[in-house]
Amino acid sequence: MINQLYFSVEETPIQRDAFKAIEKEQQTIGYYALPDQDISPILDYSKKIPEAIKSIVVIGIGGSSLGAKAVYEFIRPVKALRRKLYFFESTDPVNIQTLLSKIDLETTHFLVISKSGTTVETFSIYKYIYSLHQDASAYTFITDPGSPLEQYAQSIHASVLHLPDNVGGRFSVLSTVGLVPLALSGIDIHALLAGARDVKESFFHAGYMQTTLLNKATYYAKHHAQYHINCLFAYSESLKYFCEWYVQLWGESLGKHQRHSAFHVGLTPIGLIGPKDQHSFLQLIMEGTRDKSVTFIKIEDFSDNITIPDISLPHLESLDVLNGLPFEKLINMQCDSVMEALLNEKDIPIDRITIPRTDEHNIGALIFYYELLTSLVGELIDVNTYDQPGVEAGKIILKKKLQA
Ligand code: PA5
Repeated sequence: MINQLYFSVEETPIQRDAFKAIEKEQQTIGYYALPDQDISPILDYSKKIPEAIKSIVVIGIGGSSLGAKAVYEFIRPVKALRRKLYFFESTDPVNIQTLLSKIDLETTHFLVISKSGTTVETFSIYKYIYSLHQDASAYTFITDPGSPLEQYAQSIHASVLHLPDNVGGRFSVLSTVGLVPLALSGIDIHALLAGARDVKESFFHAGYMQTTLLNKATYYAKHHAQYHINCLFAYSESLKYFCEWYVQLWGESLGKHQRHSAFHVGLTPIGLIGPKDQHSFLQLIMEGTRDKSVTFIKIEDFSDNITIPDISLPHLESLDVLNGLPFEKLINMQCDSVMEALLNEKDIPIDRITIPRTDEHNIGALIFYYELLTSLVGELIDVNTYDQPGVEAGKIILKKKLQA
């Protein structure tokens, strides 16, 4: 994975301080250790799920579902997987019924994932599904040790797996939360963690990622008042759910009161997919307010060489230039052309991440890269990256309404 920045940043003491703060944070924040974990307990657990199980359902929301979904939807188009994953994340009744119509309850294992063990969406959906299928052996619960959910699971004699200490929901994809469903579907979680480990090593041991991530985070933080919208423009349909994961990670981590002032700050994430969004959002970036940075993501090798046939269409001969061109080449030329057009504007901060191919190693690297970037930017804009007090108010009001 290569990340090329098209803006320059001078090294400052602030940058060094941020790096030291992140180094220190490893003692208290759990996600930094995840690339180095021993995954044998997860693999042993996976072996216990019978071969007859054809589908895995994740019941969870936010950090408890988005990461696994991002990895699964990235890998699924290019790899024959052992089992299908389904994500029940919404209280939309039609969505619940639609998903249920796709699975056979008898050949499905359900992973109920909730760090807190009390999330309304997760448990309203769980109650519904449990009412249809009251077989405790069909459920595994993933939660924090000692949560009310663990107590419940024990009371029905269902399996329980724990989240590691101090790993927040949106930073939990490389823990049991993401690894268990992914391993059950047949995704190579060894390779996923190896990709994350490469980025971690490079960042903490003065490699290429250290300079790149520090420069990018410093630029974002220094200019956050002006460039407060960060567009991730990914040129592959397979990165659609990665964009959703990024929106949650960035939004919930970086939109806060500052720690040492009363100011509200925040960087707004936007997930875009190319070339589709060239025909919708691009105009706003190109000619709209200069408040957006853009990160392009490009996949070098799509492992698919279908080409545009050598057909000349009457009256449309101008399009013959496309003839014989592999689609893989076309989509990347489109990405390069839009990037060049935006660079020509000279006042839009641009960078590009190039992924060699669609595999577990690369998505693992991309995930850890974004987690580190989020931690660095949070440190530099002076927020607590790991809490989310802003989502509580709505939950309290809902509780009152439910009790009324
Ligand atoms: O990142 C977070 O902490 C949140 O988005 C949570 O993941 C989300 O609210 C779900 O919470 P829980 O896992 O406790 O059910």
